[in-house]
Amino acid sequence: MTQAKPKSDIPVNIYRPKNPYVGKCLSNTELVGEGGIGTVRHLKFDISAGDLRYLEGQSIGIIPPGEDAQGKPHKLRLYSIASTRHGDDIDDKTVSLCVRQLEYKHPESGETVYGVCSTYLCNLEQGADVKITGPVGKEMLLPEDENATIIMMATGTGIAPFRAYLWRMFKEKHENYNFKGLAWLIFGIPKTANILYKEELEKLQEEFSDHFRLTYAISREQKNKDGGKMYIQHRVAEHADELWQLMQKESTHTYICGLKGMEGGIDEALSASAAKEGVEWSGYQKQMKKAHRWHVETY
Ligand code: FAD
Ligand code: A2P
Repeated sequence: MTQAKPKSDIPVNIYRPKNPYVGKCLSNTELVGEGGIGTVRHLKFDISAGDLRYLEGQSIGIIPPGEDAQGKPHKLRLYSIASTRHGDDIDDKTVSLCVRQLEYKHPESGETVYGVCSTYLCNLEQGADVKITGPVGKEMLLPEDENATIIMMATGTGIAPFRAYLWRMFKEKHENYNFKGLAWLIFGIPKTANILYKEELEKLQEEFSDHFRLTYAISREQKNKDGGKMYIQHRVAEHADELWQLMQKESTHTYICGLKGMEGGIDEALSASAAKEGVEWSGYQKQMKKAHRWHVETY
């Protein structure tokens, strides 16, 4: 069986809210193409001066400046780390995030409201200080098994940890990790222009076609078989028999990250395939969770 890292080796809470690490913004770039919906930024922070270290699949906390409506300092918000432990420049000096600016209409006044921390980050200027806590999270770690099958299901910024996994698997070279298994990313986004990291993902897919499968669910451009929006769970349903076969191998790990709303539909699709073989999905899923083969981070 493939084991995740022993829990004692996992860095956690090196920096706490009372004494955060103050990093610097090195870059802040738009990930949504023309005609896409909203703003999603890729941010890279310099962490070279302190002790902050992290693993793929962990998150960091960001403390936005200022006070809340009660006059108390803003609380931290968590963000999944989008870079590998070595950082985007492979020099162990940076950490990156993928942040969507929260924007919604106030249910009573109808006014547009922008999220505090996501707006702060999306507007952060190069060179600005940023208060960082963590890292946290032991749920989304990648197994060390180089031959594992890694199934990744993401909506929107849920791509962040998977970018880190894929970069570790295919872009970096390591002495003790040379991925030879199968990675399958199923990615739900509203429009083609919203496919985060599109060029790089497609380049990896082309180069490593025997080891990396890439499936999109483009909700506002594609239709599901009933004529409705194509959500990630509909793609899962299309491939459910194959996914179910893969999930029964002990070396397969499944990861879900992004919108909470996708979980029910994914379960439904996989239950149907499991039921064809007389297996009750929720019981099987519990076993996978126990074996650390079913990993969920939704928000
Ligand atoms: P806030 O100012 O805190 O506003 C949020 C509040 O607005 C909500 O609590 C709710 O009360 C209200 N609200 C929100 N939407 C609506 C609506 N439609 N109608 C009415 N009220 C509404 N985000 C990312 O962008 N990228 C990530 O990688 C990421 N990773 C995460 C990882 C984890 C483990 C968790 C828990 C969350 C993650 N998030 C991520 C979400 C992130 O932590 C913040 O919640 C998000 O950025 C919003 O924070 P904010 O300060 O901008 O919004
Ligand atoms: P839509 O917005 O068309 O309803 P982003 O974070 O960039 O907005 O992407 C999130 C993606 O997840 C969008 O394609 C969005 O579709 C889709 N989505 C929204 N609600 C659900 C849900 N309950 N289950 C699965 N996907 C969802």
